[in-house]
Amino acid sequence: MIREIRKDVFSVGAIDWDRRLFDALIPLPHGTSYNSYLIKGSERIALIDAVDPSMGDVLLDNLDALGVERIDYIVSQHAEQDHSGTIGELIERYSTAEVLGSQKCIELLMEFGLIDEKRAHPVNDGEALSIGGMTLEFISAPWVHWPDTIFTYLRERRILFTCDFLGSHLATSDLYAKDVYESAKRYYAEIMMPFRANARKHLERIRSLDLEIIAPSHGPVYDKLDFILNAYRDWTSDEVKNEVVIPFVSMHGSTEIIVSHLVDALMERGITVRRFDLTNSDLGEIATSLVDAATIVFGTPAFITKAHPLIAYAAIIANALRPKARFASIVGSYGWGARIAEDIKSLMPNLKIEILEPVIVKGYPNEEDLRAIERLADDILSKHRELGLL
Ligand code: FEO
Repeated sequence: MIREIRKDVFSVGAIDWDRRLFDALIPLPHGTSYNSYLIKGSERIALIDAVDPSMGDVLLDNLDALGVERIDYIVSQHAEQDHSGTIGELIERYSTAEVLGSQKCIELLMEFGLIDEKRAHPVNDGEALSIGGMTLEFISAPWVHWPDTIFTYLRERRILFTCDFLGSHLATSDLYAKDVYESAKRYYAEIMMPFRANARKHLERIRSLDLEIIAPSHGPVYDKLDFILNAYRDWTSDEVKNEVVIPFVSMHGSTEIIVSHLVDALMERGITVRRFDLTNSDLGEIATSLVDAATIVFGTPAFITKAHPLIAYAAIIANALRPKARFASIVGSYGWGARIAEDIKSLMPNLKIEILEPVIVKGYPNEEDLRAIERLADDILSKHRELGLL
């Protein structure tokens, strides 16, 4: 589907309605899109980003339908294959096209075997390129989430192309974003959260531009800019909320009793709880819940003395996503031996987080164990109060 965003600026990418997994890890409950944008200057034609190789035909058909016989510049804003994987085909078809990108992006594209040196031209931060009546200005934006990313500012149309940044994994017929808060937050959590400090820096730069449209390379385009910029301001800030995320697993029911008791105790204390049984939870929902939470509590039985593998997996994911949570704890149970708490702590070296006294019980919890859980809930309450969260 081709859509004209502004005069001579077309969305020519592909909507992937059926994709359900990204990076062989991230669930995509609502599919995604690989956005590509064609800009027709009076003298030259530029394409911003390509699409995933699985949908290259859609891009090529759209270019044919628009009667595009020549592309002068392919701006590769980021080398990951969902945006660059069809560049090889494009430069074969458009034999005079030159590929523009950051130095790092060009290096990666060459290493991936997608282009060779003769067709590549690195661009610098602030560099401008006139294509006749329209100017592309390149803005360096590394580490959202690769080291190579640039944004492209189309000055005369007041459009900023941001590649992955500010995007959403959402297949929708809407050109302009409507009801995308949850999808955008989920996307931020899964992809951008580890790079919060860089994201904040890039947001400031974006706010300094004169803009009408933000056009990412996944999900719909934004024409109400405050919506997405304010959401990112909140998500990337250091502010946490009065929320506790509890990923847990129970093998014989003991850890579930402990977790249920903790959930009730936290609720009684006015704390919002997000509880995830990892045998049937969506990784994206857990990641999303980590965007704001002040505290994470892992609930696990001992599995050959260590944390249950599903919980170890959750700890590894949390360590990679680097949420801004300030506190963590571990609750759980064991039969004959346990090093659960030590194991989970060792899986999260990236998190600068205060560990509150874990509660690990033998077998099923007795009255004293449940009192220890109440004390943990009191500790969490008092820590949240110290932060002024309630
Ligand atoms: Fe959508 Fe980092 O690729």
